[in-house]
Amino acid sequence: MQPFMCSIRRDVDVYIAIVRGREMADALGFDAIDRTRIEIVILELTRNLLVHAGGGQIRLEPVSQYDRCGLAVEAIDQGPGIPDIALAMQDGYSTAHTLGAGLPGVKRLMDDFHIASTVGVGTHVRATKWVPQRSRSRR
Ligand SMILES: Nc1ncnc2c1ncn2[C@@H]1O[C@H](COP(=O)(O)OP(=O)(O)OP(=O)(O)O)[C@@H](O)[C@H]1O
Ligand SMILES: [Mg+2]
Repeated sequence: MQPFMCSIRRDVDVYIAIVRGREMADALGFDAIDRTRIEIVILELTRNLLVHAGGGQIRLEPVSQYDRCGLAVEAIDQGPGIPDIALAMQDGYSTAHTLGAGLPGVKRLMDDFHIASTVGVGTHVRATKWVPQRSRSRR
């Protein structure tokens, strides 16, 4: 399965990325609950690209390590960057006066989470979900 990459410029791009993410998650063997988690993560990261960075790129990549496989969701932008990442990761912190639940939610929904940001340069988020051994062996 090839990685999928697309520019996120408009609302319709969000849905294109979510549909592709669902297809990839299904093909990798994620169950319905994990597929929904992955869809929410793609929604939150793509919304952040549109709302806070004026657009960016999303990358969906099948990954494997030892005997496990998973899906990495990456959001990359050349927006204004995040001055205080610890603050941005707190529940309820939002410069857009919305819930401030996106980034902390993404971290909780996935297994691995990395964020790097430089003011004036941009932001890079990478979040990975691994297929649980149980649901893989059932297929
Ligand atoms: N790609 C980004 N570029 C610049 N700033 C960002 C980016 N993503 C998040 N932020 C900053 O981090 C804050 C927290 O993000 P988070 O997604 O948790 O909340 P939110 O987008 O403000 O609200 P919600 O996602 O709940 O609607 C944002 O308010 C914004 O200041
Ligand atoms: Mg958000």
